[in-house]
Amino acid sequence: MNFKVITIFPDLITQFAGHGLLGKAVREGLITLEAINLREYAVNTQGQVDDTPFGGGSGMVMRPEPAFSAIDKIKAQHPDAKVIYFTPRGKQFGQADARRLANSSPTTQCSEKTSANSASDKTQPTYIILCSRYEGADQRIIDELVDEEFSIGDYVLMGGETPAFVLLEAVVRLLPGVLGNPESTVQESFSHCLLEHPQYTKPREYSGLAVPEVLFGGNHAEIARWQKNQAVNDTLIRRPELITKALKPKAPFYLALIHHPVYDKQGDVIISSITNLDLHDIARSCKTFAVDRYYVAHPTKALRLLALKILGHWEHGYGLTYNPNRSEALETISIVTDLDDVILAIEEKHKMLPRIIATSARRGPHSTTFTEMRARLCLSDEPHLMLLGTGWGLTEEITSRADYMLEPVDGRGDYNHLSVRAAAAIMLSRLLG
Ligand SMILES: C[S@@+](CC[C@H](N)C(=O)[O-])C[C@H]1O[C@@H](n2cnc3c(N)ncnc32)[C@H](O)[C@@H]1O
Repeated sequence: MNFKVITIFPDLITQFAGHGLLGKAVREGLITLEAINLREYAVNTQGQVDDTPFGGGSGMVMRPEPAFSAIDKIKAQHPDAKVIYFTPRGKQFGQADARRLANSSPTTQCSEKTSANSASDKTQPTYIILCSRYEGADQRIIDELVDEEFSIGDYVLMGGETPAFVLLEAVVRLLPGVLGNPESTVQESFSHCLLEHPQYTKPREYSGLAVPEVLFGGNHAEIARWQKNQAVNDTLIRRPELITKALKPKAPFYLALIHHPVYDKQGDVIISSITNLDLHDIARSCKTFAVDRYYVAHPTKALRLLALKILGHWEHGYGLTYNPNRSEALETISIVTDLDDVILAIEEKHKMLPRIIATSARRGPHSTTFTEMRARLCLSDEPHLMLLGTGWGLTEEITSRADYMLEPVDGRGDYNHLSVRAAAAIMLSRLLG
C-alpha cells in the first residue's frame, strides 16, 4: 500500500513515519510513505499556497493550483490513486473505514477478519492524503479531486496532519505483517460491535489494588467468558450505540398490561378497569413492532370476560367483516389473570424465565436508558417481558420483580403523564423500531 501525504509540513510526516510499527512497516517495505511539500507547487516564488477568502471572512484558504498540480503529478504515476481529504465537515472516520482502506473484508458489519495482502508494490492501492491548513481548501479542489472526506471528531484542529497520522496508524496496523500477532486485530475494541475487556498485568497486587481472581485460575473457558461479559457490560454502559447502530433487536419480546396491583392517585393499591382503547391501540402497536404476545392481565373474571367479548366482536363477529385488519392486531392479545400467568406462559414456551422490564413515569436511581435496553435486546436470545402499569402505575410489589427499570419517556417540559397506550407506542418504537 502506498501513501502520498501532501502537506506544507513534510518533515512532520517523515518524522512520524520513522517511529514504532509505522516506521517498521516502511523499513520492511510493507508500505511506502512519501511526504510531498505542497509549497513546491506554490503559485509564486514566495511559496504561496493560500489566499484570502472570496466573500470575506477571517483566515486564509488553500488555493486550488498547488493541490491540482501536486495531485496531477502523483496520478500520472498512479492513475487509480484515491484522494482523501480531512475536514471537520467530513464523515466521521471509524474502524470500519480503516478496515475498508486496509482492504479488509469483514464478514458482517462488526466482525473482524483481515484478508491477506502482499507487500506493497505498484499493484497496491495508493492513497493521496491532502492535508490542509488555515480555513481549509478551496471547494473546487474537493469537488474535482477528492474521493473521501473524513473528520476525526467534532472539534477543530489547526491542520490535516494530525488526522493523517490517525488514518495512517489505524490503517497500517491492519495490514498483514505489521503487527507481531495478527490476532490482536480480531479481539479488540470495535470488533463484533464491542469495546475490549479491561486488561491487567503484573504485579498481581499494587497498593492494595488486586487483579480479578478469575485471570489466575488457568481456566481458559472461564477467562474467555469473563472477558466477553466485561466487554458486553462495558459496551452496554459506555457505548450502547455501537451495538444498536450495527444490529437489530432479536430477543423474543412480550408486553403485559397490568391492572392489579397498581396505585391510584392517593398511592393506594387498587384494581383498575380494562379499557377498550388499551386493548385496540396497544395491540396495534404490538403488531406493528412484531411483539410476540400482548398479555392483558386482570384479576376479575367479569372484566376478563368483557375483554374476551370485545375481542370476539372483532375476531369472529361483525367487526371481522367490517375491519379484518383489526382482528390481525387483536389476535396478539392473551387475556390472563396476573403477572404469574404471563411469566408461566413465557417460561413454558422458551423453557426459561423472561427478563422483566418494568416501566414508570418516575425516574429512579437505577433506570436503564432506552439505548442500553435496545442494545441488550440486540445481543440477547432470552425472552424479555415489558410491564406497563395502568392507574397511577405499577406497585413496588411488581417493580421489585423486574430485572430492569426503564427510564421514563420525557418530553421538553416537566409534564409526562402519557396515556399507557401512547407510552407503549413510544417505548416500542425506541426499543424495537
Ligand atoms: C482550522 S481547520 C479549518 C476548519 C474549517 N474552517 C471549519 O470550520 O470547518 C484547518 C484544517 O485542519 C483539518 N482539521 C481540523 N479539524 C479537523 C477534524 N476534526 N477532522 C479532520 N480534519 C480536521 C482540516 O484539514 C482543516 O481544513
